[in-house]
Amino acid sequence: MRHWWEDAVFYQIYPRSFADSNEDGIGDLQGIRNKLGYLVDLGVDVLWISPFFKSPMKDFGYDVSDYRDVDPMFGTLDDLRTLLSDAKTRGIRIVLDLVANHSSDEHPWFFEARSSKDSPKHDWYLWVPETGRPPNNWTAIFELGSAWHPNLATGERYLGTFTKYQPEFNWRNDELREAFYDIMRFWYALGVDGFRLDVATGYFKDSELRSNPFSSKANPDFFQKHIYDRNRPEVHEVFKEMRAVADAAGERVLIGETHGHDRLLAASCYGKHDDELHLAFNFEFLYEKWGARNFRESAERWYAALPDGAWPNFTLSNHDHPRHAWRYRGRRFGGASSEAETEARARVAAAMLLTLRGTPFIYYGEEIGMTCYPFPRAALRDPLGIATWPLRGLGRDPERTPMQWTGGENAGFSTAKPWLPINRDYRSRNVATQETDPASLLSWYKSLIALRRAKAALHEGSITFLDLDVDVLAYTRRAASCESILVLINFASQPRAISQGAPGRVVLGTARAGGTALKAEGIVLKPYEVVIAEV
Ligand code: NOJ
Ligand code: CA
Repeated sequence: MRHWWEDAVFYQIYPRSFADSNEDGIGDLQGIRNKLGYLVDLGVDVLWISPFFKSPMKDFGYDVSDYRDVDPMFGTLDDLRTLLSDAKTRGIRIVLDLVANHSSDEHPWFFEARSSKDSPKHDWYLWVPETGRPPNNWTAIFELGSAWHPNLATGERYLGTFTKYQPEFNWRNDELREAFYDIMRFWYALGVDGFRLDVATGYFKDSELRSNPFSSKANPDFFQKHIYDRNRPEVHEVFKEMRAVADAAGERVLIGETHGHDRLLAASCYGKHDDELHLAFNFEFLYEKWGARNFRESAERWYAALPDGAWPNFTLSNHDHPRHAWRYRGRRFGGASSEAETEARARVAAAMLLTLRGTPFIYYGEEIGMTCYPFPRAALRDPLGIATWPLRGLGRDPERTPMQWTGGENAGFSTAKPWLPINRDYRSRNVATQETDPASLLSWYKSLIALRRAKAALHEGSITFLDLDVDVLAYTRRAASCESILVLINFASQPRAISQGAPGRVVLGTARAGGTALKAEGIVLKPYEVVIAEV
């Protein structure tokens, strides 16, 4: 049976940066609601909203102090109810971001847990006796110090592998598990369509607390192979339990965030018998250099890694990684040389994301080609960016700048000073300008999304890669109920002559109008040209 999330296009919203409705410089739920028309127009089916729960904002919402309420900064529970019902009326679903690996150190559970070893909540978190030194080499990766943080009241240390403000849960404790399943039921009852599970592969740690071995990779490993502080096999038991809770609520999606970029780990989250998560992120695309062959091989590896019946997904950008329009400009990822080339690559990347076999995830702003903004160090807000500067560049703030709605004051995001600086290119790169231009990147995204929705071959069909040219990503998508679709994407800045071997008719392209005939003997693709044709 097919599920709605397999045919859907997802759109990730980082709520602080999407739209500010009450002019305090921070995006909010009402802001999202005001933009539902835009999202319907864009054609996306599901919003994944990064955390907006009560939080001291030490990690901007990925440190939750109440899992059942909205932080006043973002609005109220009633605002969420209204957003859910308005979105539903417009055919848009909403997926929340559940941060279940750790809470905030200001969560009442942690206050209770840290007060005494006898507290009923003590065992909900992870502790070692204070011996004057940490028990192993696990690191708080946003602080670059030990992950074991002192707690004077109990003479112990607690675990926090992000910051000391994010104490980690003991998922071996049954009450803790039940508490989370109840939280999930609470949101399902309110009408949410599922969860993105933050650091899903992190819930369990080695019971012997062994030190991680050395890794030569700085990013995303921080020089340790995370085999003991995350990615333990016990997590599958919890995935099965979460799946049972989701199934009981009916057709709700569970999407796992895996740590690192390990497709096998991601594939394992689906379960061997379709009994764990419905989707798990494989982050390989985020690290892939520009090139048709790189992406093809990466996609093929991902398809091969997935268990039978598991449905793939693809992501090019999110709130933790430099935006892809920016990446493909940098030398490390195969450097575009001009603005025009950056733009052309954004179109190529979008065509790939939206025509491959698997659910696409769009990160807010990528549809207008937002890039990363290298603002001054003094403006940094991300704990990772601040602690690791300049080792990890500017951390994650550059990909979290406010959405660029207009060329006016603060890019139309807010009339107040925005919480992060706005990318200076907003005067030319914004929704208002692109909305009225049929040749804009935004219009290209809309056309691709509409085509994906209209053609069963694109949203559910099989995929067969074609060997036409090393710089041309080419595949056929097929479904019984519709014509086959041929996708030809030239990743090169030079023309490429190819022979696709069958006649066809263009349905969408960057340089050829819909309806144009494709001759069987072949065509010459222009630099960065995309052709999508019925064959
Ligand atoms: C992964 C999230 O995507 C990231 O933004 C966050 O900082 C960490 N998990 C900790 O919750
Ligand atoms: Ca606001």
